[in-house]
Amino acid sequence: MSRLLESDIYLIETQLQDYEDLFIRQTGYTMEEIAQKAVGLTENTKRIKTAVISVTSGLGIITGFSQAVGAILRHHRVETLIAEKTDVAGLQQAYLSKCGIAFLADDCVCAALGIGSAVHSDNGWATGRSFAAAIIEAMRKQGINPLQERVLIIGAGPVGEAAAHYIAEQHAIPVICDLDNHKAACLAATLGHSAWISSPATIHQFTYIIDAGTMGDFITGEDVTEKTIIAAPGMPCGATAAAREKAIVIHNPLELGIITMYFDCMKQLED
Ligand SMILES: NC(=O)c1ccc[n+]([C@@H]2O[C@H](COP(=O)([O-])OP(=O)(O)OC[C@H]3O[C@@H](n4cnc5c(N)ncnc54)[C@H](O)[C@@H]3O)[C@@H](O)[C@H]2O)c1
Repeated sequence: MSRLLESDIYLIETQLQDYEDLFIRQTGYTMEEIAQKAVGLTENTKRIKTAVISVTSGLGIITGFSQAVGAILRHHRVETLIAEKTDVAGLQQAYLSKCGIAFLADDCVCAALGIGSAVHSDNGWATGRSFAAAIIEAMRKQGINPLQERVLIIGAGPVGEAAAHYIAEQHAIPVICDLDNHKAACLAATLGHSAWISSPATIHQFTYIIDAGTMGDFITGEDVTEKTIIAAPGMPCGATAAAREKAIVIHNPLELGIITMYFDCMKQLED
């Protein structure tokens, strides 16, 4: 997980509705609908009060992070408390304020945890699955049946791994590529019908790409066509401005992953 920068998130709150509109144009669905598909939730409108708690350990608080998470939850009609207190005191404040879920992040993990219930969601898992669900629906919106279509997955970390599993569940074919070839081969071995290729990937040979790596600006205008669809959770975004002009590029630093974590918790509460 790369640590987000203040510049990655400071516009999230003011641009949420515009981003939602773009996302619908790209995928045919709202972020909430894609999040629910990603976690296997059908028809859920239930909301429970949720807290966002800043954590000061490690490199400390990213200015605006808790506010951005809170804005994303509120955009989806979740009553949200942004705790004034940090760390354990913030968690206690959330409990005393009768919040049912707490969102917390440090330098290594961003998680949602049930307060009073044994539910949990990890941001890497939620992000990988939801960006994979987004590319599958964007393909369908373009009239492509994902069945047996190859989807290149760049990066075999937690995000790439979760994306690869979702792609395999949809009976598309995940093709894994990682700077560490062994990691790519190991992930491919855990999936059914899949493949891995050595790095660097010959990107122009793929029409559907999930960028779950950590490198910016490596997918160029020459690598893509008007038919290319890229779901890019990776930070910074792997697609250059030229690639983004030509191809459909689904990219956001936090929005989709956070709301997917919320619905992941709701799904577990339902089960
Ligand atoms: N957009 C979001 O909401 C969101 C949420 C969580 C994580 N992320 C981002 O997603 C990315 C993946 O997260 P993670 O936790 O799996 O990271 P990670 O660092 O654990 O794994 C990334 C993997 O990608 C590989 N990699 C990096 N650049 C590559 C390249 N150009 N080609 C091939 N392989 C490459 C690395 O070797 C590594 O195995 C990170 O950039 C992270 O910051 C975004």
